[in-house]
Amino acid sequence: MSISDYFNGNPTLPQEQDYVLLDKETLLGLVAAILSEQDSPGLKERARLLKEAVESLDSMLVNTGREELPVRVNPFLEEIQQILDAYTYERSRYYAERLQKGLVEAKTNDVNDINLRRWKDYDEVFTDSLWSIDRRDQSGAHLGWYWGNYVPQIPHQLMLRYSKLGDLVIDPFLGSGTTLIECRRLGRNGVGVEISPSTAVRARELVEIEENPYNVTTLVEVGDSQCFEFRKIIEDMGRDTVDLFLMHPPYHDIIQFTSDPNDLSNARNTDSFLDMFGHILDNTIPFLRKGRYAGIVIGDKYSQGEWIPLGFYCMQKALSRGLKLKSIIVKNFDETKGKRNQKALWRYRALQSGFYVFKHEYILILEKR
Ligand SMILES: C[S@@+](CC[C@H](N)C(=O)[O-])C[C@H]1O[C@@H](n2cnc3c(N)ncnc32)[C@H](O)[C@@H]1O
Repeated sequence: MSISDYFNGNPTLPQEQDYVLLDKETLLGLVAAILSEQDSPGLKERARLLKEAVESLDSMLVNTGREELPVRVNPFLEEIQQILDAYTYERSRYYAERLQKGLVEAKTNDVNDINLRRWKDYDEVFTDSLWSIDRRDQSGAHLGWYWGNYVPQIPHQLMLRYSKLGDLVIDPFLGSGTTLIECRRLGRNGVGVEISPSTAVRARELVEIEENPYNVTTLVEVGDSQCFEFRKIIEDMGRDTVDLFLMHPPYHDIIQFTSDPNDLSNARNTDSFLDMFGHILDNTIPFLRKGRYAGIVIGDKYSQGEWIPLGFYCMQKALSRGLKLKSIIVKNFDETKGKRNQKALWRYRALQSGFYVFKHEYILILEKR
């Protein structure tokens, strides 16, 4: 088995390049030998031998033609070092037992596929509440053509933390299809609803271009998510609940997406925008599986010299539906070409009128109780 074969069964661990495949029986034998020692010097001597064998990729561990285990070398060596550095025999043994468990059994929770016994392998997964993403992922079908899209790293990260392989993810504001492209990459089934027929056509084309290595279903539907028949599509997918909702609504009228009066970007005022967003929550959240999550991506706006905290207002709408707030993530804003040209002007206006130039948006993480 090659490393990429192994990871095709586990898209939550995409940093293939950092891994080596080691002979399973020999590796487990070396670890068992550490645990068979009755005193600290003996145990540490065995740990030192294991460390040397992994560091040098000893011939007894690689290309043996037998069953293999993928091991991320640096975190693994650090764990052996912990055994060597421990002050007591009991502590060294505890670390050695933990190392052994990490090799033979996985420990995941109900919400994602992250193996908590190997948690140091997951550098790629964010756990901080401040996201600074310098460069959008433009690989594959992620062309970044749609004004008002989100960076693919947002659905990517949220799916890694809040969904499992084969789960159902629904995006009621699909836009250019970013969420569904990520669904294909990560092996999640996905449905996206978009009010603009022409945007939906383009999104469908791009989603279809993306490879589908896990053979998941990704559907682009045209409709108004305030009244779209989510129950029917969920049943058509052979389910009765949704595992994750990702919502990236218009930031009210900052960008007008269509001329359709049911498009949230055409709401008459903030209250009516929030009412429409509330209708979408009422039409979707009842289908969210208990203990599972909704991620809402939303920025604030200015109107007539006043900061309108759309993010907090939308959060309030979600909380009033009984969802539990798990995190508020602050993410830096992309500087689009247009904005870059107006940078000096905005700075002048900010100095003149006592406000700050928007540089962030929110990702609200909410759990269904
Ligand atoms: C901020 S964009 C989402 C962009 C998307 N995340 C992407 O990466 O391309 C919001 C989208 O919601 C759509 N929209 C607005 N009101 C809607 C409604 N009532 N039902 C479904 N889609 C709606 C807009 O046409 C727009 O494409």
